[in-house]
Amino acid sequence: MPKWLKDAVFYEIYPQTFCDSNGDGIGDIKGIISKLDYVKSLGCNAIWLNPLFDSPFMDAGYDVRNYYLVAERYGTNEDLKNLFEIAHEKGIRIILDLVPGHTSDQHEWFRKSQKAEKNEYSNRYTWTDSVWEAPPNYRLMCGISERDGNYLVNFFSSQPALNYGFNEITHPAWQLPTSHPDCKATVEALKDIMRFWLNVGCDGFRVDMADSLVKNEDGEKPETCKIWRNVREMLDKEYSEAAIISEWCNPKVSIGAGFHSDFYLDHDTNGYRILFRDKDRNTGECTAVFSKNGKGDITKFVDEYLDDLKNTKDKGYISFITCNHDTPRMTRMFTPLEAKIAYSFIFLMPGVPFLYYGDEIGMKYMEGLKSKEGGYHRTGTRTPMQWNKGVNLGFSSAPSDMLYLPVDTSTDAVTVEGQLKDENSILNTLKKVIAIRHENEDLQSDGDFEVVYAEKEKYPFIFKRGKFIIAVNPTSEKQTAPFAFEGESVFTIGKSSAANGIIEMQPQTLELIEIK
Ligand code: NOJ
Repeated sequence: MPKWLKDAVFYEIYPQTFCDSNGDGIGDIKGIISKLDYVKSLGCNAIWLNPLFDSPFMDAGYDVRNYYLVAERYGTNEDLKNLFEIAHEKGIRIILDLVPGHTSDQHEWFRKSQKAEKNEYSNRYTWTDSVWEAPPNYRLMCGISERDGNYLVNFFSSQPALNYGFNEITHPAWQLPTSHPDCKATVEALKDIMRFWLNVGCDGFRVDMADSLVKNEDGEKPETCKIWRNVREMLDKEYSEAAIISEWCNPKVSIGAGFHSDFYLDHDTNGYRILFRDKDRNTGECTAVFSKNGKGDITKFVDEYLDDLKNTKDKGYISFITCNHDTPRMTRMFTPLEAKIAYSFIFLMPGVPFLYYGDEIGMKYMEGLKSKEGGYHRTGTRTPMQWNKGVNLGFSSAPSDMLYLPVDTSTDAVTVEGQLKDENSILNTLKKVIAIRHENEDLQSDGDFEVVYAEKEKYPFIFKRGKFIIAVNPTSEKQTAPFAFEGESVFTIGKSSAANGIIEMQPQTLELIEIK
């Protein structure tokens, strides 16, 4: 386990819209370098960069055309190397986004794989053995290659699935076992990409759709796990301080497969959704635990989370995120105060937390934008970072019609500059919470977590982390609970008081108490 993960707090950067240094309307690596001090000032000591590799950008770069080359619009490989070096000097680690499940249909491997003549890359992707072979339970692209066969898609149609083999073989004519040398060659190619960037200086990878490698396997995905354990072995041997963090959202399985941390994502009916996203299917009313409506049920989260924690203890972490580039920002449903409480809670939880750029100032989800680079409903979460009240809110000096996505032009658009001036802003609040986390081991990734008060459909929620108690009442009502601790409040949003074995929390409050 890389030691630095214990106290890592990540900042996710969507490179397209973070900071444009050359005025072409799109963010770039030099822009990111110019903002490293800002990232550091938040207390974030690690950065996850969404893909910045050469790509036709049908899926914002998750369709890689060349894993070894930085996309021109972001700069050069040399710029990325500089970014690693400068970040390291400032005590910031950088992880890249590794897309192992698919490439772009313009990747050289795929171009060769499409050829009628058999070659080294014929089996790099999964193809049926004739264009007339198209079983309906597979997502196949049919009849668009000179090769007589159809290829399997991993995500969008332009993202052919790399071939790691099949667990259950239902069509022996074209499905290879994972032990086939060509499937093993895909794994080796993946490891080579990792080595390349680790040698340039990155600190690890966020792994895209990590569970999607081997086909025809459900549940615990034994064959996909075997591949990741093999990758982890390589890392342990060659790059023991490199971290791998999975987009899987099944920590019991992914941590067992060798990942150091797994994202807790906005998935149907899971704990993350219960906390931050749930809504009533009929009325659309927000029923998330952290909504001020007070209609959430914390026990549904707690049951799932405690089980995951138990199963991953001392092996790996669960990563809470404020949001990511795939989901609407919390502010779509939450007021700034609701978001402030929810985000603060995230940085007081175990595991390695991730702050999505712009969430620290409460940036909006921009409704009604036309899809950009395969963003669709995700586009509204990917708009330019709002730095100040200058041209394009400080993101870029380009004419506004040249911007990758429009900036928020509303008069009350939040900015870093504005939030810095307000002591109670989300920005200044998160800075405080993150600083307290860094100062106290109990609050870091591997610190304990114990539930103190979590009752079905009741508030507040109270938990203990070492010598700290965290009590949170996100609702717009006053809430009380039994409380048997003596201590000093070290961080607070709103007001609460404890006396005679009861804690009384005013509406929308969060309290961090150090037990004496
Ligand atoms: C998950 C990524 O986060 C998302 O943005 C992308 O579209 C898919 N994987 C496909 O790579």
